[in-house]
Amino acid sequence: MINRLLDFLNASPVNFLAARNLAAELERHGYRRINPCEPIGKIAVGDKLYATKNDSSVYAFEIGQKPMAESGFHIICAHCDSPTFRIKPNPEITCEGGIVKLNTEVYGGPIMSTWFDRPLTIAGRVIVRGEDPFSPETRLLHVKRPLLQISNLAIHFNREVNDGVKLSKQKDMLPILGIINGELEKGNMLINIIIEELSKEKEVKKEDILDFDLYLADASPACTFGAHDEFISSGRLDDLSMCYAGLEALLHSETSDTTKVLAIFDNEETGSQTKQGAASPFLASLLQRIATAQSGTTEAFHQAVERAFMVSADNAHAWHPNYSEKYDPTNHPVLGGGPVVKFNAAQKYASDAVSAAVFAEICKKAGVPCQRFVNHSDVAGGSTLGNILASSLPLRGVDMGNAILAMHSCRETGSVNDHTFCVKAFTQFYNA
Ligand code: CO
Repeated sequence: MINRLLDFLNASPVNFLAARNLAAELERHGYRRINPCEPIGKIAVGDKLYATKNDSSVYAFEIGQKPMAESGFHIICAHCDSPTFRIKPNPEITCEGGIVKLNTEVYGGPIMSTWFDRPLTIAGRVIVRGEDPFSPETRLLHVKRPLLQISNLAIHFNREVNDGVKLSKQKDMLPILGIINGELEKGNMLINIIIEELSKEKEVKKEDILDFDLYLADASPACTFGAHDEFISSGRLDDLSMCYAGLEALLHSETSDTTKVLAIFDNEETGSQTKQGAASPFLASLLQRIATAQSGTTEAFHQAVERAFMVSADNAHAWHPNYSEKYDPTNHPVLGGGPVVKFNAAQKYASDAVSAAVFAEICKKAGVPCQRFVNHSDVAGGSTLGNILASSLPLRGVDMGNAILAMHSCRETGSVNDHTFCVKAFTQFYNA
């Protein structure tokens, strides 16, 4: 099971690739793509449907044996974006000796120092001229070789480096891409790589490349480590590990009375306020259209929402053996200790005593341990999907996730056992 997760992580360097891989897996398991531009059509018991938005969010539905108005739906949501660096337009800066560096801006909240001195690559989407100017062609790009590096300043120029360094996003974080090889390459280094990569699959001409959404990604593959191979080292565990656990559960759970929903949103790391983010009405409208197609009334949708249960799955902070003072004294989940339910008095998390109790019972039934997380009261902590989604869909549910170390590092640390536990708990949730 863990190898499938590692393969998914390696094939999903950024949101667009993750969404494509999730959609491909759904297709392989008989899910039919619905086109939101067209009527939803007839909905039958057992139908497997999915939709995407912006090539970067995915919504899958397995229609239950009972109408949603009677049986509600069980939804797992997670996000497929992770902190990284976005390549700006006109990115090439040519320096001394013909060295080309790329102009970038920060996406989300990465631990920037972890991006230094490691082989990086580029991934995302490239927009190519099509027949219709309003719907150009989207081509996904993933350069599968080390291509760039953001190099540190030598310690000899900064003797205080180990006392903590303030980093400038504009000055310090620009990766080097190459050394110019002839006049023709000036200003064209990145575009030449894009053309070469895309043309491997299908030829593309330079004049037809209109724009791109490209990001940096760690070029080293995810792996397990530890005396017993009990840990996972990878970029983007937050939140691709939850996306994949949700997918595994959806595909391997039994047929159920209750409709199953898996919602993978984009842009959680920048606040979810996009058409493909958790604040978008897109998921609510899909659910409404499905419930209406099923029962012939919009009343069905509102009943379904009232009967539904949400598991908002986003990674939690594992207790760090070097920094125990940062954690709550009585609620600090550990690596390998099972799924974590997150609480916050200011309601940054959707969990309450009722929904947490429901989720704990699901874990118990699945034979999986369950932990609880609360912030140290002097620490602000983060937010996630559950409450943002609740503002358009007033769902009962929990915020939970697997515990990881070094959240938002270029390489985070997770637990192999926690992945298995989480898939079991999610499968039980969909079966229930
Ligand atoms: Co997250």
